[in-house]
Amino acid sequence: METPEWSALMNHRAQLEGLPLRELFQQDAQRYPRMTLEAAGLTLDYSRNRVTDQTLGLLADLARGRGLPERVDALFRGEQLNTTENRPALHTALRQPQDQPVKVDGENIMPAIQATLERMEIFTNTVRGGEWRGMNGDTITDVVSIGIGGSYLGPLTATEALTPFQSEHPRCHYVANVDGSDIREALAGLNPATTLFLVQSKSFTTQETLANARVARQWFLHGGGTETTVQHHFAAVTANADRARDFGIAGDSIFPMWDWVGGRYSLWSAIGLPVALAVGMPRFRELLAGAHAMDQHFQQAPPEQNMPMLMGLMGLWYMHGFGAESQAVIPYDHYLRHLPEHLQQLDMESNGKSVCLDGSPVSHHTGPVIWGGPGVNGQHAYHQLLHQGTRLVPVDFILPLTSHNPADGHHAMLAANCLAQARALMLGRTEQEVRAAMIAEGMAEDEAQRLAPHRAIPGNRPSNLLTMERLEPATLGALIALYEHRTFVQAAIWRINPFDQWGVELGKEIGGQILPALNGEPDTDMAFDSATAGQIARFRAAQGSGSGSR
Ligand code: F6P
Repeated sequence: METPEWSALMNHRAQLEGLPLRELFQQDAQRYPRMTLEAAGLTLDYSRNRVTDQTLGLLADLARGRGLPERVDALFRGEQLNTTENRPALHTALRQPQDQPVKVDGENIMPAIQATLERMEIFTNTVRGGEWRGMNGDTITDVVSIGIGGSYLGPLTATEALTPFQSEHPRCHYVANVDGSDIREALAGLNPATTLFLVQSKSFTTQETLANARVARQWFLHGGGTETTVQHHFAAVTANADRARDFGIAGDSIFPMWDWVGGRYSLWSAIGLPVALAVGMPRFRELLAGAHAMDQHFQQAPPEQNMPMLMGLMGLWYMHGFGAESQAVIPYDHYLRHLPEHLQQLDMESNGKSVCLDGSPVSHHTGPVIWGGPGVNGQHAYHQLLHQGTRLVPVDFILPLTSHNPADGHHAMLAANCLAQARALMLGRTEQEVRAAMIAEGMAEDEAQRLAPHRAIPGNRPSNLLTMERLEPATLGALIALYEHRTFVQAAIWRINPFDQWGVELGKEIGGQILPALNGEPDTDMAFDSATAGQIARFRAAQGSGSGSR
């Protein structure tokens, strides 16, 4: 990025070199209140970042210089930002009130969105209220959502996050992997007469989803179902209604998707149906409202006070200024345990790109590796690398201030751990401090000298702390929308397209060539490379000798 704003940032970087975070805190008692921002029920404490007011000003200059505010307007207006598929990306329209029209090809899409929400409401009320009956006249006790990627991770994350808001029935289960063990385990213990399947696939061509849907159908038919009663037990969410109908799903039970919603941004569409079935439609609408509140903040706040922009810009600062290759997301909340997985797909499928919008190669790294897991578990696994490893890994900690299950002081312990991690990363411990502490405990000086380098912690490692009063539908909606926009901010600065995913296609295509060869179908002798051909032969030999365990 050869822009004057970027050069100014890089020059400024050298000034920060000798100014560790612990010193920035010592110099400025107001650092925390100044570097705290509220939006849509979330509070971002970004004081533990390697930034000064000057850095933030320069990052805001970069955002303006790269036209970020104009890109945000274009996103919400429904411009065709997905330039390789000639579509807008209008997930924001799915969560906005009806009174503001949004047009695609001259047509206002808001009535179709509202009509779908109303259909979802009727459907969820019917199933949750026990009026939807299965083949034997029983009510539905279990819903199995079959989908993968964006048609799986968003609903799974939200369903788990909203566990305290779930009714006893229906219980929601998710199947994604084409590994037969996934669906086998999901169906174990379920009753075909009281189970409803939701086939979730925008394209209705995804191999994994269709294979699992076929297994589900067979299981249902073997469990007493018939071709006619399939209609009482299968519904679909798709942009390809014909295919869903061919599968045997009744038109009334097919909910629409639109090509202007990307898979990884589709939680807010009817793809969120399993969430609505689990928590009820009013809660689902609260989820949408929370996301909309974040949308409004993103559209209206200046870069200096804009949560997604600040997070996106500071992420760039670490990648390009300090060589960070990854971003950790560590929620201190058991119910948010799937969030890192969802954000991984959201960001890595969006920004894992090597060319700019005009097709020219980028001159720098793009999307970071997104990873993480629930705190505190990670403290006893990978946090060692965060504290003493050679890599700089910026961390987002997420902490609801109150718990749905505060049992026996657990929540204060959880919060103490979260705050301690952020503080330890920031502060570190110098060799002198370590040595002095060991000598004070009675250790001999030469032993303290020997151990000090091993026990010193560099510190100066950046983190954000995102808090909310309570994890509930609205705050969850705001949280997920925050990360969607953070991803968009980085794509806009890099001038890449975050809304396509051509890289995924090659694997699908080659998988389609290998499968018949693995199955030993005739005329599939493709000229595979020696490694692939060798592994195909081994796989086929193993099928001859192998035996299933169950
Ligand atoms: O993994 C690639 C992908 O195309 C995702 O973007 C998408 O969410 C997923 O596959 C599933 O696609 P579909 O909803 O069409 O089954």
